[in-house]
Amino acid sequence: MAMRIALIGCGAIGRVIAEAISSGVVDASLECIYDLNTESTQRLASSLEPRPRICQTFEDILGSKADLVVEAASQAAVKAYAEKVLGAGKSLMIMSVGALLEDELFRNLRATAKKKKVKVYVPSGAVGGLDALKSASIGKVYEVKLITTKHPRSLKGAPALEGLEGLDWDKKMVLYEGNAREAVKKFPANVNVSAAIALAGVGADKTTVKIVSDPGIKENIHEVYVRGDFGACTFRFKNLPSPDNPRTSLLAALSAIATLKRLSSSVEVGT
Ligand SMILES: NC(=O)c1ccc[n+]([C@@H]2O[C@H](COP(=O)([O-])OP(=O)(O)OC[C@H]3O[C@@H](n4cnc5c(N)ncnc54)[C@H](O)[C@@H]3O)[C@@H](O)[C@H]2O)c1
Repeated sequence: MAMRIALIGCGAIGRVIAEAISSGVVDASLECIYDLNTESTQRLASSLEPRPRICQTFEDILGSKADLVVEAASQAAVKAYAEKVLGAGKSLMIMSVGALLEDELFRNLRATAKKKKVKVYVPSGAVGGLDALKSASIGKVYEVKLITTKHPRSLKGAPALEGLEGLDWDKKMVLYEGNAREAVKKFPANVNVSAAIALAGVGADKTTVKIVSDPGIKENIHEVYVRGDFGACTFRFKNLPSPDNPRTSLLAALSAIATLKRLSSSVEVGT
């Protein structure tokens, strides 16, 4: 039987995923959808054929027939729902991966998933090359560095910038330099990629992150530098923002779809 999916979060990423399922790009059925914002849920449901069931509460998701729940909402959603989803015997795909850099939460999710014989999936998101980083990290890795450069409109509103006055957004400037653990707290909607890179590589404390605001660009640029016993590699992504959310790269939504295709397919390509 085809995989049955429930979706939490009907924003930019959720919509693209839902459309891929209902149009048959992914061999699965979209059982039900949920969002705190009921207008978003209604709008998405009415644009899909077949129309998924709308969940009025998160608990409706737990009671659904879905085998896999896709989170495309927020770090807060992961903290509030992830363990309950796994506890209900459903696998979980997480887009707000920054939440997983909280060690206690991650440990609990791992333990519950193991106990219930279900899985947590973290798509590569807005970057690629995680296969090489995972392979490299089997050996010794000395450095993993991410430099993310975005247009100011993609960065404004981040908690790290609250109360900061006098920033000259017309100039290119470095907004953050530190590790991935802190970066996902200070810029929760902007550097989920740093979390995926940290989990695939050397962890939240050793992965270094620099966030740059540049009014002269329209893309979200992610540059990843890795150095280890294997040698060195560099990845550079020049992503176009999603039309519905400038903070989100379209590639992140496509990566979620690619993961769902892999899970629902009988052939797997690549590591
Ligand atoms: N992994 C990656 O590389 C990557 C890349 C981009 C975005 N993201 C993350 O994916 C998530 C979704 O991104 P998006 O661009 O679709 O965001 P969006 O703001 O367009 O949509 C998010 C939707 O989730 C809903 N929501 C938020 N918290 C909720 C909760 N607790 N319960 C139910 N619904 C809730 C909102 O109402 C909104 O409709 C964000 O957390 C974003 O930071 C990850």
